[in-house]
Amino acid sequence: MHCVACHGPLGEGDGPVAAVLAGTVPNLRTLSERNGDKFPADTVASYIDGRSFPAAHGARMMPVWGEVFDGTSQLVTGAEGAQTRIEGLLAYLRELQYR
Ligand code: HEC
Repeated sequence: MHCVACHGPLGEGDGPVAAVLAGTVPNLRTLSERNGDKFPADTVASYIDGRSFPAAHGARMMPVWGEVFDGTSQLVTGAEGAQTRIEGLLAYLRELQYR
């Protein structure tokens, strides 16, 4: 629902919005491959959350999902906590990794 526009239906970085972004949308199926065949759960979780992303790291094109998922953003509200949403995403991304 929130990710397909940029990351594409299978997370391969080929969503319709990817074409109009200034940078490249990464393939989310190679997260493990690019990390010595280990799924980098902590890094991925904090990147998706985004609230602790230091501005000094340069421009971030991806939205800050932590605020969306915890209901403090106007985009989506609900009782479900950001942590639960991100954990669900991690389980899904883990399944998407090429083997
Ligand atoms: C507006 C387009 C856009 C949307 C929507 C989006 N992303 Fe991203 N995502 C990006 C871009 C671009 C990057 C590359 C880093 C950057 O510029 O922020 C990225 C990076 C990532 C990364 C780090 C990948 C790596 O190689 O380290 C993860 C994980 C990720 N996105 C997951 C998600 C998830 C999960 C969602 C949905 C909740 C989502 N993204 C929605 C554009 C988007």
